[in-house]
Order: sequence, then structure tokens, then C-alpha cells
Amino acid sequence: MSKQDQIDKNRLPGHVAVIMDGNGRWAKQKGLKRVLGHQNGVKAVRDTVEAAAELGIQFVTLYAFSTENWKRPQYEVNALMELLVSTIRKEVKTLMKNEIRLQTIGNLRELPKNCYTELMEAIELTRNNTRMTLNLALSYSARWEITQAMKKAAAMAEAGTLTSEEVTEELVSSLLCTADMPDPELMIRTSGEHRISNFLLWQIAYAELYFTEKLWPDFRREDFYDAIISYQRRERRFGLTSEQIVH
Ligand code: IPE
Ligand code: IPE
Ligand code: MG
Repeated sequence: MSKQDQIDKNRLPGHVAVIMDGNGRWAKQKGLKRVLGHQNGVKAVRDTVEAAAELGIQFVTLYAFSTENWKRPQYEVNALMELLVSTIRKEVKTLMKNEIRLQTIGNLRELPKNCYTELMEAIELTRNNTRMTLNLALSYSARWEITQAMKKAAAMAEAGTLTSEEVTEELVSSLLCTADMPDPELMIRTSGEHRISNFLLWQIAYAELYFTEKLWPDFRREDFYDAIISYQRRERRFGLTSEQIVH
């Protein structure tokens, strides 16, 4: 049975989040510059997005650039921003063809202007697509996002439109960048690192975590299937006992 056939289409995660890591090490292993690792990561993005859309997954969030990544050498930051612009420009037709809606989370105001404009155009163009949402986390970190949410709540309280009784988990979720999305049920990280690196801290409270040694540029459709198969073999208990779960 092929890997794809082992997947139960009725028990897919509604939202998969991916920490795309290991581009630099991939390049270094080959004696190449780090930037080439990033360039070669684009194929992995394509494979992942296509595989997810074909399976019928509704949301995929890719961690493309963190708040902390701004501290990398300037030439690497520039190269990543240029790669983002050229990739969006190239891929927007495929997004339309595959009926994929593009969205972003993060502090987009920090992005270079051409990057920002390119993204906004692609978001606008794809906004009525309904097959899947591809959500790019750019200049994103969970602590930044939660801080923003708290600022919004404080402003509402100051304006007299929010009382402490009205502060619920739903309210907190609604103030995050992911307000319109379900929480990720599966989070994948490549490159063998076992950490979250400031990604979706609130939203992954009950996500299943999947780690693979594969470096991001080597990650392919079959590796994505492996992650889904692993997810489907797990028992998600949400604090209950195994006996309480109806299978
Ligand atoms: C992930 O690969 C891409 C970004 C963080 C932008 P890295 O560039 O972190 O690669 P490693 O972890 O150094 O190998
Ligand atoms: C996390 O990878 C951010 C992205 C994948 C965009 P990093 O390579 O920046 O994370 P650390 O430094 O290993 O925690
Ligand atoms: Mg890394």
C-alpha cells in the first residue's frame, strides 16, 4: 500500500503548522552558501502545499521568518526577502490553479516595502479561493503576537468596552493573528531540532508534535505523508483517560 493510501481521509488534521528548519545546514553539508539552502527549500514548500491540498487539509501554516531571524547577517535577511518576493510572484498562478488562498501572520510592517506589496497583491488575488488556506508566518513570533493581543485588550478596557469577566479563552484567541483559523492539530519540525522557537505558543496547546531529522530542502511529499500517518496513529486524549475516548 502506498503511503498516501495509508492515510484516512476522514481523520485529517484541519490545520498543520510547519517549522521549516535546516536550510543552512543542508547548504553547509554540500559546501554551498546558506542562501542556496533557502533557495532549495522552495521545492519542499511546493511539495508540502500540494500534498496537503490534494489530501484535503484546510489550513497549512509555514514558519518562514521569525522575529528573531531579523538578527541574522543583513545579506542573509536580504536574500530571504528577495526569495520571498520572487517565489510569491512565480507561484501565484499555481495558487490560483489549485484554488489556494494565501494569508499571512506576523508583523508585516517590518517587511521591506516591495515584499509587503507583493504579498498584499497575492492575498487580494487569492482571497476567494476555498480549497485550502496557505498561511505564511513572516516576521512572526508568538510572544510578539500575545503581546499585541494584550495591548488590544488593554485598549478595549481603557475604552470601556472590555471588563475582566469578558476575558475568556475565546476572547484571547480572537485577538491573535490566527483569529479566523482553527488551532493546528499537527506541528511538524524538520532538521532534528526539538524546540518550538517562539511559534504559535497559544495555538499549539494540544497539537501533536512531529519531529524529523530531514533537513527542510530534502523534505518531500512522502515525508509529509509520514507525518500525517504518525498523527493518525496517536491517541489524542485531551486530558481524559484512554477508556473515556470513543474510538
Ligand atoms: C530555516 O533554515 C529557514 C529560516 C529560519 C529562515 P535555517 O536557515 O534556520 O537553517 P539552519 O537551522 O541554520 O540549518
Ligand atoms: C525557526 O527556525 C524559524 C523558522 C523556521 C522561520 P530557526 O532556525 O530560526 O530557530 P532556532 O534558532 O533553531 O531556534
Ligand atoms: Mg534553523
